[in-house]
Amino acid sequence: MNKEMAETLIRTGPGTAMGNLMRRYWVPVVQSSEIEQPDGAQVRVQIMGEKLLAFRDSEGRVGLIDEFCSHRGVSLFYGRNEDCGIRCSYHGLKFDINGRCVDVPSAPQMASKMGIKAYPCIERGGVVWAYMGPPGKKPAPPEVEWSLLPDSHRFVSRRLQECNYLQAMEGGIDTAHVSYVHRYEVDIDPMHKGCKALDYIKADGNVIFNIEKTDFGLTLFGRRNGDPGQYYWRITQYLFPWFTLIPPFGDHAMGGHVWVPVDDHNCWAWSINFHPKKPLSETERAHMAAGKGIHVEYEDVPGSFRPKANRDNDYLVDRVAQREKRAYSGIFGFSVQDASLQESMGPIQNHEAERLLPTDKGIAMARRMLHEAALDLAHGVEPPALDAGKQRVRAASVLLDHAVEPVAWAREHLADGLTHPVYSI
Ligand code: FES
Ligand SMILES: [Fe+2]
Repeated sequence: MNKEMAETLIRTGPGTAMGNLMRRYWVPVVQSSEIEQPDGAQVRVQIMGEKLLAFRDSEGRVGLIDEFCSHRGVSLFYGRNEDCGIRCSYHGLKFDINGRCVDVPSAPQMASKMGIKAYPCIERGGVVWAYMGPPGKKPAPPEVEWSLLPDSHRFVSRRLQECNYLQAMEGGIDTAHVSYVHRYEVDIDPMHKGCKALDYIKADGNVIFNIEKTDFGLTLFGRRNGDPGQYYWRITQYLFPWFTLIPPFGDHAMGGHVWVPVDDHNCWAWSINFHPKKPLSETERAHMAAGKGIHVEYEDVPGSFRPKANRDNDYLVDRVAQREKRAYSGIFGFSVQDASLQESMGPIQNHEAERLLPTDKGIAMARRMLHEAALDLAHGVEPPALDAGKQRVRAASVLLDHAVEPVAWAREHLADGLTHPVYSI
């Protein structure tokens, strides 16, 4: 990728082309449960270079405001969340969920001039979403399947990944890597083991990709050898600009991610598991909470979203496990496996030096879409994929006869597919 394109894609701070584009979509900020109680503890969260503070006010409304007080810049993380607003602990200025300054104890007449930045929020799918774009351009709320299900059907976690969002998200688009770095873990992980899909994934690491550009982003068709006369297809979707879905494994809960820039060197990796048709079992929930499947165990620091296995400890690499073929790279946990490799590229991968292969077709197309949309927006063209109704798609893992044309099959069974059965082996 050339320098201009890479720079456009990776920079998401205020005023950048990609930052402007991403701010046109609802962005997941925190889990509703992180700020569950009215007047409970406020939390800091950084999104696309902006340091923000999320809180729930006395009436249960969620606010996302600038982290810092307009008076002399103190962090409102140390303020008091009470009586419908956050009061700065230094000189008592108080701000409501709209960022309005509602009290300046020492100079009440100044209140109207002391407001701070605030972004509108909604709650959906157990997640607080914010709209950080220009007023009047707010799209309809997201309709990705997991966000529409009852809480009982879904488990959500988020973790900090210490690299640019692009190289992290590209791991979510590139399903070819499953045959390598996740190869052994799939046999022991409670959310992956024991399904037919694994036989095909392991037997054929040479995935052939076919990609279809759609109203919501991309549908990616990964073809492996199946049984005689059949291909094994892993079909998944990239929902512009930052959602990826994971092709399912047997009857296990389905999965997906959202990749949100924290700043240019870090991102939030959201991981979601869900059953479209039934609640998650207590056992599944316990495994997810323990960091199995696509979730992680966190380091032992209050409020930290950094995984316990991180680059400071070489992700707890175990060379014996690697030799004994229990962990392909010697690292355990799907998300840590991915994060370790993606962070090893450096905080911002040197995209000019990379040399893409045929299995990178999906990545190349996603990049082109992002790049084109960012430049178009700068020239006044409205962004793509703003129609939330088009996000009602589902991934699949299927054996199809050689004669079946997968794009046509997917249009019939997966597009607007939330009423269809889950197709998974
Ligand atoms: S810095 Fe916040 S009230 Fe003075
Ligand atoms: Fe992965």
